Amino acid sequence: MDHRTRQPAHEYELEVLPGLEHVAETELAAVPLARDLRGLRFWYPGDPERLTRLRSAVAAYRVRAWDVPRPRGLLGHQQLGELTDFLRGVIAQGGHTSFRLGAAGKESGVMQRLAEELQAGLNLPHHPTEGELLIRLRPQQDGPGWEVLARLTPRPLSARAWRVCNREGGLNATLAYATHKLAGQRDVDRIFNPMCGSGTLMIERDLLGPSDALVGVDLDQGAVDCARANIQAAGRTLEVARIDALHTGLPARSFDLIVADLPWGDAIGTHGGNAALYPAFLQEMHRLISRQGRLAVITHEIRLFEGLLRDQTAWAARELLQVYSGGHHPKVYLLNRR
Ligand SMILES: C[S@@+](CC[C@H](N)C(=O)[O-])C[C@H]1O[C@@H](n2cnc3c(N)ncnc32)[C@H](O)[C@@H]1O
Repeated sequence: MDHRTRQPAHEYELEVLPGLEHVAETELAAVPLARDLRGLRFWYPGDPERLTRLRSAVAAYRVRAWDVPRPRGLLGHQQLGELTDFLRGVIAQGGHTSFRLGAAGKESGVMQRLAEELQAGLNLPHHPTEGELLIRLRPQQDGPGWEVLARLTPRPLSARAWRVCNREGGLNATLAYATHKLAGQRDVDRIFNPMCGSGTLMIERDLLGPSDALVGVDLDQGAVDCARANIQAAGRTLEVARIDALHTGLPARSFDLIVADLPWGDAIGTHGGNAALYPAFLQEMHRLISRQGRLAVITHEIRLFEGLLRDQTAWAARELLQVYSGGHHPKVYLLNRR
């Protein structure tokens, strides 16, 4: 037997953007030793560091349930000792320097007592809004008690270490990962990321593995600078240029995969602008894509985009997913040349 399988297993749960569950389940299924998978919940005896490298999850939590009818029961001497030990195990791995509680009614007297007890027991400051160790309490999902979820990492997994420059309209990195997984990953792909913004789609693709080419463009010099800073922080070498995606001057059929997070109409661009931009974009990408190529589009302008798809015959299109992210419900589509 592998020695690692004899380590005590803990139960874990992944948190994902609504709509990315199946992508996360697929990624989780590839984690060696993860077992008894029930959706995003599972047992795992291995090094939790492996779970902090999951790219489709917003966060990973260690979970434990207590047989108490309400949170007050966690203040009992034995329960508090067990809870403190449980949290110490997570802190030993994650190096958190403060904590906070996440629960309905966290302002209540019981929760405040719990925070005080944990502050003393863990010797860690309680920061109600910024605390690094997020401790969530909720009724047990498959029993009568209460369960505690402790986030493994001080920051969400979606807050990538490479993101040193953030821009309004920046894509959630877990959605960028999911888009690439569903659009398909081939070493021989020549990839284009028009309207690259802060570079999320480019960086997440490059971290997945090799490609034949990977270039991004954006009209905005601030976006180009931002993407370059993030690419450098990621330790990658990728080309980004300040060019209009609709007038690149590149020859026809230059790319096998084009991935684009189009202006969404509120934060960036205007609806009037998008009504002209979107059809021009589809036309120019049709020229730039290879015969067997794929075009993945992320957009919140669903009515506009689906109307355009209905009125054209150049592309075969299907919806890959719809996600809830940052107050929006963008969709991801995959298009092929007809
Ligand atoms: C939704 S944002 C992309 C955000 C990006 N995915 C990120 O994670 O930061 C759309 C971007 O399209 C750019 N843009 C709009 N029209 C463009 C055009 N014709 N050519 C190139 N970039 C354009 C904007 O400057 C903006 O950075």
